[in-house]
Amino acid sequence: MSILVTGGAGYIGSHTLVSLLEKGEDVTVIDNFDNSSPVALERVRQITGRSFKTYTGDCCDEALLTQIMNENDIEAVIHFAGHKAVGESVEKPLKYYENNLESTISLLNAMLKCGVKKLIFSSSATVYSGENTVPFTESGRLGCINPYGWTKFMNEQIIRDTAYANKELCCVLLRYFNPVGAHESGLIGEDPNGIPNNLMPYICQTAVGRREHLTVFGDDYPTPDGTGVRDYLHVVDLAEGHVCALAYARTHDGCEAINLGTGTGYSVLDMVKAFEKANGVKVPYVIGPRRSGDLAICYSDPTKAHRLLNWKAERTLEDMCRDGWRWQSRNPQGYGTQA
Ligand code: WQD
Repeated sequence: MSILVTGGAGYIGSHTLVSLLEKGEDVTVIDNFDNSSPVALERVRQITGRSFKTYTGDCCDEALLTQIMNENDIEAVIHFAGHKAVGESVEKPLKYYENNLESTISLLNAMLKCGVKKLIFSSSATVYSGENTVPFTESGRLGCINPYGWTKFMNEQIIRDTAYANKELCCVLLRYFNPVGAHESGLIGEDPNGIPNNLMPYICQTAVGRREHLTVFGDDYPTPDGTGVRDYLHVVDLAEGHVCALAYARTHDGCEAINLGTGTGYSVLDMVKAFEKANGVKVPYVIGPRRSGDLAICYSDPTKAHRLLNWKAERTLEDMCRDGWRWQSRNPQGYGTQA
């Protein structure tokens, strides 16, 4: 039996592959390398000493997904593949709706055809409405402010309805808060295309000299130091959450949404100071205007993950900063030219 990992060459996908392989699982990867590099998969093989089959292709291709499931005795799917840039989704909404929804629908159709009953879906805290009070729980109000977030919301609903209509399925919707850091080897990490949207890759690229300075998006929020507060979690903790979700799916049916976060919020300036302290580097920054759509404060209530998955984030803020820097300083240009 094998676990099909879609988007396995991506940031969270590659870290999840390492955790799965180290737990002795057999994996199969599909990735179109649209926003990732095959080098990441070579590094996963290097870290784990294990090999695995990789298909280069698109998750909207139902025939290919069906072929993969029939050729590889797939037991479960972990679905990462999808476009994920919030800003781009506002400029090109149809690109996001077409790709992110069609890929999930194609995947579900192939799973039902081939009798694959377990699905772990890469969802996001972005599905939570800003009207919720912190900490965000899974029963919080849902509502999005950009097409990327709506594709996560809609995919959750598509999966939930499909699980309701097919009682043999077990689907786990993992709502990530803010994944940061990298595997301790320094061989795999976050390698965004172009100018990073997210805070931690921008901090790393500033520290390594690829960016002149960080712009802090607003220091007039109702927070302790005026800058935005988020629930940052180590990407290896997040990867291990997927291994726990797979174990849960093997012994349950139905559909559950589960937060993966630490339950602790840190501000932008907390992150800058922690990064500088952990790594002995300077991160020059300027204060700029607020970024539209940003919440002041967002952090999780992770108790359901502890209760259902027996999962809890273990790594510290210092681990996140040190591991992220090790990756960036050893790979200043990420994986090199994108495939
Ligand atoms: C964090 C904080 C910014 C960049 C996004 C997606 C979400 C999820 C995680 C996929 C905020 C501030 C940032 C910068 C800054 N991704 N910031 N200067 O917005 O919480 O969530 O990534 O699921 O869907 O929306 O993360 O890292 O962009 O921002 O001051 O150059 O850092 O204002 O307070 P965010 P982020």
